Amino acid sequence: MRKKHVLSVVGARPNFMKMAPLLRELSKEEIFHSSLVHTGQHYDEVMSKVFFRDLNMQAPDFNLNVGSGSHAVQTAEIMKSFERVCDQAKPDLVIVAGDVNSTLACSLTAVKLQIPVAHLEAGLRSFDRTMPEEINRIVTDSISDVLFTTEESGNVNLRREGIAEEKIHFVGNTMIDSLVSCAGLLHHTRLGGALGALDGAAYFLATVHRPSNVDDPGPLSQVLDILESASQFAPVLFVTHPRTRSRLEEIGRDSELSEIDDELREIRQGSVYFLPPLPYVEFFKLMSKCTAVLTDSGGIQEETTFLRIPCLTMRDNTERPSTVDLGTNQLVGLDEPAVRSCLKTIISGEWKVSSVPPFWDGRAAERVVEVLKKILGRN
Ligand code: UD1
Repeated sequence: MRKKHVLSVVGARPNFMKMAPLLRELSKEEIFHSSLVHTGQHYDEVMSKVFFRDLNMQAPDFNLNVGSGSHAVQTAEIMKSFERVCDQAKPDLVIVAGDVNSTLACSLTAVKLQIPVAHLEAGLRSFDRTMPEEINRIVTDSISDVLFTTEESGNVNLRREGIAEEKIHFVGNTMIDSLVSCAGLLHHTRLGGALGALDGAAYFLATVHRPSNVDDPGPLSQVLDILESASQFAPVLFVTHPRTRSRLEEIGRDSELSEIDDELREIRQGSVYFLPPLPYVEFFKLMSKCTAVLTDSGGIQEETTFLRIPCLTMRDNTERPSTVDLGTNQLVGLDEPAVRSCLKTIISGEWKVSSVPPFWDGRAAERVVEVLKKILGRN
C-alpha cells in the first residue's frame, strides 16, 4: 500500500510543543510518510530554533520564512508559500495546531486545494472576537475535517456549532505530552547560571504578551503596577516576549526593571526582574519551582494546571475553562486588589484543591495517531 503523506505545520512558539510529540508518533508508523513545514511566523533563535533542540524535533522539510507582518500580510504570505508546498508535496492530510495565524493560513490553503485538514486543539473558545486567536480558531474548526479536542468544553463548543459528531475526537493535550517527556530532565538539573540563585527561593514567574495587555500604554502600565505590587510578596521574574519588550522600550518603562545577569547572587523581594524569552526546558524549570505564575498565555494556564502550580491569568476570559474549573487557574484581569488577595491565599498555602483534566496524561499523541490510522488507512 502507498504510504499516506501527512504534512504537519508549525509556525509560532506554542505550536512546537503541541506538534513535537505527534511528529515522533507519526514517524513510528510504517503507513505514514511524515513531513514538516515551518512557516517562519516566529524566527528568532529563542522563539523558534531552541525549541527544535529542546523538544528533539525533526528539522523542517519546508521553510517558508515569512517573518512578521500585519495579520493580513502575514496570513497572505503564508498562504501563497504554503500553496506551492502543497502543489509540490501533494499531501494526503495537513495537520495544523492551535490558534496562530499560521494555523488559519495553512488550513484555509489546504481546504481550497481539497486536501483534508486535521486540527489539533480544536473547539476552544474565549467568546471574545477581539482576540485574533478566536477568529483563527473559529475559521479553522469550521473548515477542518478531523477535530482533535483537548478538553470537554471543546467537544461542547463544536457540537453547538453544528460540527458532525464523527469529526470530533477527544484525545487530550499533546502539549502536556511534551511536559511529560521532558519531566525527567527536571529532577537531575538545577537552575543554571544566574538562575541558580533561585533554587529553593520563593518567587513569582510572569509572562505577558497579549496585544490587549501590551499594545497600549494604559494596560501595559497596569500590568507593570500589578507585577510591582506582587513583588512586595516575593521577587517577580518577568520573562518578556519580543512584542512586550518593544512596547516597554517605546514607553520607556524597560529601564525600571532589573536585568538578570551572571552576577546575580540573590533575588530581592520588591524587585521585578526582566528576562529575555527562554528555551523550553529553562522555562519549564522556572515554572515548576515557582510559588505562582502570573500570565496571559493560553498554554501556560494548562501547563500550570498539570504541574499543580497556582496560576493567575491576567485576562477577563479563558478559552481553557477546565484550567479554572478543575485546575489551579484563576482569572484576575488587570485587577490589582484581586491579584494581591489571591497571592496572600497562595502564600498561606490555601489555594484551591485542583485536579488534572482527563487525558492530560502524556499519551495524547498516541491517541491522535490511532485515529489517523483508522481514517487514512481506509482510503
Ligand atoms: C503569536 C500568536 C499568539 C501566540 C504568540 C506566542 C497570532 C495571531 N498570535 O503572537 O497567539 O500566543 O505568538 O508567542 O498568531 N517577533 C520577534 N521575533 C520572532 C517573532 C516575532 O521579534 O521570532 C516580534 C516582531 O516584532 C513581531 C512581534 O514580535 O511583529 C509579534 O509577533 P507575531 O507572530 O505577529 O505575534 P505574537 O505576538 O508573537
